[in-house]
Amino acid sequence: MSEKKAQLSIDGKDSPIELPVYSGSTGPDVIDVRGLVAQGVFTYDPGFVSTAACESDITYIDGGAGVLLHRGYPIEQLAEKSNFLETCYLLLHGELPSKQEADKFENTIRYHTMVDEAIHQFFRGFPRDAHPMAMLCAVVGGLSAFYHDDLDIDNADHRLLAAHRVIAKMPTLAAMCFKHGMGQPFMYPQNKMGFAENFLHMMFGTPCEEPNVSPILAKAMDTLFLLHADHEQNASTSTVRLAGSTGTNPYACIASGIAALWGPAHGGANEAVLDMLNEIGDESRIEEYIGRAKDKNDPFRLMGFGHRVYKNYDPRATVIRGICDEVLDELGAENDPLLRMAKKLEKIALEDEYFIERKLFPNVDFYSGIILKAIGIPTEMFTVIFATGRTPGWIAHWHEMLSNPYKIGRPRQLYKGHTKRDYPG
Ligand code: CMC
Repeated sequence: MSEKKAQLSIDGKDSPIELPVYSGSTGPDVIDVRGLVAQGVFTYDPGFVSTAACESDITYIDGGAGVLLHRGYPIEQLAEKSNFLETCYLLLHGELPSKQEADKFENTIRYHTMVDEAIHQFFRGFPRDAHPMAMLCAVVGGLSAFYHDDLDIDNADHRLLAAHRVIAKMPTLAAMCFKHGMGQPFMYPQNKMGFAENFLHMMFGTPCEEPNVSPILAKAMDTLFLLHADHEQNASTSTVRLAGSTGTNPYACIASGIAALWGPAHGGANEAVLDMLNEIGDESRIEEYIGRAKDKNDPFRLMGFGHRVYKNYDPRATVIRGICDEVLDELGAENDPLLRMAKKLEKIALEDEYFIERKLFPNVDFYSGIILKAIGIPTEMFTVIFATGRTPGWIAHWHEMLSNPYKIGRPRQLYKGHTKRDYPG
């Protein structure tokens, strides 16, 4: 029972409505407005800026302080000491694995990386220039066609099996999206390789050559996946939860998350960063574009800057900035004109009053775009990589929701349309 109460008086008419107030383990209190519907009113919160839609134990963000915790562990510590698969385990199970549990988990993921050969045929049906996110959305949703025997969502073992499958198969499917566009043969996963190493092998390897993945790039890729692993109730995760609340299968839920991630205000931002850099085209035009970003009459925004939640430096951006320098060094790409331009843009924006006042810092997508471009990943694949990294977060939230009592997600509205009227004639 809640000790704290909020009182709501509507138009000063009736006696105030009493609403319970709950406290989480940290973060703002929440007012329980569920009883309001019985009083004949709804709350109004487009964009869910003040609405907690669920209870969760997985991830905590303090946007003002620039804090991101997974199961209590700061993202900086996970990036330094953990790896992507261990972080997946942490998100799913709530605790870091013992050595034995970690080995078992890695092995399980490794033995789920292959996809049914029939999926190769799906890809052949897509045009060569299909956007990789369009293909990813379709094939991930399509996985439900292959695993319908293990899809009892009320069975926790089935849920974990689906989690393992989807985490393991995402890099394989992501690389297939790339290979299809290139017209190259799909590469089978290699069980002797680590998760990120395997992904880079499936992306850039060919059957004509011995596998050869740079350990520095594999480590950078692993950290990039880890930094994207979860981010609380963002648009795509909320989409996964909303879809999951209807009782639909996990592959359909993840496909809906992928669709939501695609937009340029969310996961599509890293692609939009590179598009923007290409559009700017030359260092001499940076000032012009900064001017456009500040102009209220111009819809142009500096892509890769600002965040709905972080009104301080995004802690993931701090980590990724370091990786960015390592990768550029490893590849000798410091002098790439686009990357040089990105660095200059970052410096100018960080010193500009408009961006400082509004706390618009470079976000994780600004740097991830630069890193991925340096590795040789085409821009249209960027959001696919984000989706691969975000999969454990999506599936952990889905699993958490189904492990507890939940209701179908069904927002209400403030109706402003016609009231009842008669059809003419
Ligand atoms: N460039 C120029 N001005 C900006 C930008 C930007 N990128 N972002 C926000 N502003 C301005 C905005 O015009 C407003 O100014 P004013 O107060 O004078 O009206 C002020 O900053 C606050 O903006 P807002 O729109 O209220 O902020 P928001 O929290 O609703 O939007 C955002 C967050 C991420 C959608 C927005 O910052 C944006 O469009 N950024 C560019 C796209 C981007 O990089 N998205 C990736 C987000 S991180 C990835 C993820 O977690 O999914």
